Amino acid sequence: MGVVQLQVCSRAFRLYCAFSLFAAMALPSLAQDPAYVKKLAPFVGSPAKVVDSMLTLANIKPGETVFDLGSGDGRILIAAVKNYKAKAVGIEISPKLAAQTNQRIQKEGIASDARVIEGDLLTADLTGADVVTIYLDTPLNARLRPRLEKFLKPGARVVSHDYAVTGWKPTKVQEIDNKHLIYLYEMPPVKN
Ligand SMILES: C[S@@+](CC[C@H](N)C(=O)[O-])C[C@H]1O[C@@H](n2cnc3c(N)ncnc32)[C@H](O)[C@@H]1O
Repeated sequence: MGVVQLQVCSRAFRLYCAFSLFAAMALPSLAQDPAYVKKLAPFVGSPAKVVDSMLTLANIKPGETVFDLGSGDGRILIAAVKNYKAKAVGIEISPKLAAQTNQRIQKEGIASDARVIEGDLLTADLTGADVVTIYLDTPLNARLRPRLEKFLKPGARVVSHDYAVTGWKPTKVQEIDNKHLIYLYEMPPVKN
């Protein structure tokens, strides 16, 4: 092997070692970060038209409490308070999105009616929810279902953007712009 080949090999080996060391140090700590581990769906905001249809479908009465599980930037909370005179609670795992939502709540002047809790939607206390909105995915809905059945009182509504709750029969399904589906469920849910 010539000197140049040896130099290239040794450089590649050093790079490989450096990368392995980085992976060994960074990946376990990422996996142990509770926010990383519990983030079960990415942030994709529901379009304004879908938010409005979800809240309309839920037939919210003034003073009712809406929980948005995985509340993202807080758009559903803000619409629920401003347009439907509801109280709103968001549960959001991302500290950044929770902080952003708090700022929006302050800016809109609705802090007495809306709040966001930085936490895991799968362990959140849902006591007092009249309406729960979700935009997650099918497996996550399935994991959430026992908690909805445990916490929600008769007459409460669950509205899900795009993903059905497997095992429940929706009261209504609405399509928006041939693109979005909204599922409405009423408690106690009728089982499929
Ligand atoms: C598809 S977005 C929906 C945002 C908002 N609800 C909407 O419809 O515009 C899903 C949100 O769930 C949050 N999320 C993911 N896993 C979570 C968990 N375990 N607990 C709480 N929030 C979570 C994500 O950070 C993200 O903001």
